Amino acid sequence: MTDAPISYAGPERVLSGVQCSGALHLGNYLGALVKFARLQHEKQTFIFVADLHAITVWQEPEKLASQTREIVAAYLAAGLDPMKAAIFAQSSVREHAELAWIFNCVARLGWLDRMTQFKEKSGQHKERSSVGLYTYPVLQAADILVYKATHVPVGEDQKQHLELTRDIAAKFNNDFKAPGFFPLPEPLTQGPGARVMSLRDGSAKMSKSDPSDNSRINLLDDADAIASKIRKAKTDPEPLSETLEDLKTRPEADNLVGIYAALSGLSKEQVLAEFGGKGFGTFKPALADLAVSVMGPIGDRMRGFLDDPGEIDAVLAKGAADARNVAAPVLDETKKLVGFWRA
Ligand code: TYM
Repeated sequence: MTDAPISYAGPERVLSGVQCSGALHLGNYLGALVKFARLQHEKQTFIFVADLHAITVWQEPEKLASQTREIVAAYLAAGLDPMKAAIFAQSSVREHAELAWIFNCVARLGWLDRMTQFKEKSGQHKERSSVGLYTYPVLQAADILVYKATHVPVGEDQKQHLELTRDIAAKFNNDFKAPGFFPLPEPLTQGPGARVMSLRDGSAKMSKSDPSDNSRINLLDDADAIASKIRKAKTDPEPLSETLEDLKTRPEADNLVGIYAALSGLSKEQVLAEFGGKGFGTFKPALADLAVSVMGPIGDRMRGFLDDPGEIDAVLAKGAADARNVAAPVLDETKKLVGFWRA
């Protein structure tokens, strides 16, 4: 009699997270939060605050918990529902860190050496970076696979980390002779908001760490700030392109059209059909009105949630318990496969 291979097929699950390392901006909202809110209605969903990842660079201890609450306020303001999605802090589900250690022993140095985000973040002084910054993508793989997540909504900048996650899953399954134990998760990066660029430089992504506040629209910016940042956004003197092909050579214009498309739910072609050939004197005020009408209420709702930290803490406590219920058995099975002693 031959042993039938064990089937590890499980439910489809969505997982993603955001670091609590600075103010959230329009790129985070369009690249990630909007998708979280949509997917919670389609699949079992886990959305966390990546506080373990945040401390790979220095965070003030007295601010870290409130930074975590601020991300949760953004999640709730974007429409995440704690009864539909588990919303929790990464550090309160210890299975993430434990699986990350096992994965540190699966991932190869050569794989991590290729990670462009580490190169960008460590800059000139690699030797002064934390070891955590280097193994950051391994923890990210653990975040995903400790829930056997199958779908990961992220912006385009996370694609390389998702490829590494798939490599780790495949190597683990192979090394421990457990085909299909970890799924190979799919990044969900579609849509015009997948890569929102800086308002000051169309070749740099909109980022929490850009020193210029005018480079990004923060979720907590008021209407005046949003409109003023769009008015000041870098552009060129030409009227807006009529075709997508022409737009490709104009990164700043392309970015603003992409933002308009993402905020309105139109395609970039549809935006050009309306605004192509018109000057920025017409397009920018229309974009500012749209951005204020969509982002203004998000900021207001966030402020409302931030006024009630007790409510946020209750969401985080419930989410951690829900998350642990799924993560603990996966970690247990993983440890069994690795062959650790157990009583
Ligand atoms: P973080 O905190 O840098 O960003 C959170 C999410 O926002 C997306 N994003 C953008 N999308 C479009 N345009 C932009 N300019 C832009 N900037 C940021 C990011 O792609 C991300 O989806 N490593 C992750 C956090 C993380 C994670 C995970 C994500 C930790 N573990 C597991 C998914 C699964 C990060 O630093 O995201």
